[in-house]
Amino acid sequence: MSGKVVLITGASSGIGKACAEYLAQKGYRVFGTSRSAPRNPEVSPTGLTMFYMDVNDDRSVQEGVDFVLRQAGRLDAVVNNAGFGIAGSVEDTSIEEAKAQLETNFFGTLRVCRAALPVMRAQGGGTIVNISSLGGIIALPFQGLYSASKFAVEGLTEALRMEAQPFGIRVVLVEPGDTRTGFTDRRVRVAASANSVYRPYFERVIQVVEADERNGTHPEAVARVVERILRHPNPAPRYRVGPFVQRLAAALKGVLPDRLFLWAISKYYRL
Ligand SMILES: NC(=O)c1ccc[n+]([C@@H]2O[C@H](COP(=O)([O-])OP(=O)(O)OC[C@H]3O[C@@H](n4cnc5c(N)ncnc54)[C@H](OP(=O)(O)O)[C@@H]3O)[C@@H](O)[C@H]2O)c1
Repeated sequence: MSGKVVLITGASSGIGKACAEYLAQKGYRVFGTSRSAPRNPEVSPTGLTMFYMDVNDDRSVQEGVDFVLRQAGRLDAVVNNAGFGIAGSVEDTSIEEAKAQLETNFFGTLRVCRAALPVMRAQGGGTIVNISSLGGIIALPFQGLYSASKFAVEGLTEALRMEAQPFGIRVVLVEPGDTRTGFTDRRVRVAASANSVYRPYFERVIQVVEADERNGTHPEAVARVVERILRHPNPAPRYRVGPFVQRLAAALKGVLPDRLFLWAISKYYRL
């Protein structure tokens, strides 16, 4: 895989950082990006280049893709990983808070896809890996807007996979379950949750969520799957990574009656 050029969003922490380091070790030419990365690109001893990119900003994304092309002359793969979570009841979430969630998790992914696709088409191929979540398959109580953002990524990715296939572009979903990263501490609680009628339920659910994440899978497990996808000549539409019971729950969603499935999820979260 030596020399394959990969752009990763959200590479300063967690899953993105693990992907950047793992792929660099494996001989990929990695460009990692985030908002906390330096404006002047820095190259690590492993050859990993980190530079500033905000996926919420059209110009920043286009400049990022242009920079990779100037440096490497091509773009073989993109890992759309940048994201964050918000927590709060649907009712307590303001439209502004909801839009901020979608702006990064959904529109950020779309923005980077739109910047990368013309490059990949001109080259005659490429791979786009969109990091979704098992929360993009199973709606999570008090993370409704997070789930909505990832359900949206799922639909976008499936459609794009079919559209881009004639141009030799492979588009793949990765759905991590709970993973030990900075995600838990960075989760934004919606402003109205502090004095909400939902508060007792919300706190109970969030305790379970946070404990599961802190005991979750190491992010390198996701990085290994991403590397396998990049090497694969014909990767599957989606890959699930994470604790067995969580992957099982996602599989059961397609089998159990909806009423029973949602009851089981709400009991799990002590609702
Ligand atoms: N942890 C889990 O349990 C879990 C489970 C399923 C899916 N996921 C998904 O995995 C992805 C990575 O999350 P993580 O768990 O690794 O969390 P994390 O440790 O908090 O990392 C999130 C990364 O996204 C970057 N980011 C956030 N907003 C950005 C923006 N507007 N522009 C550019 N970069 C941005 C952050 O960097 P800066 O703040 O420096 O910009 C950081 O590098 C997310 O899409 C998340 O939804 C996580």
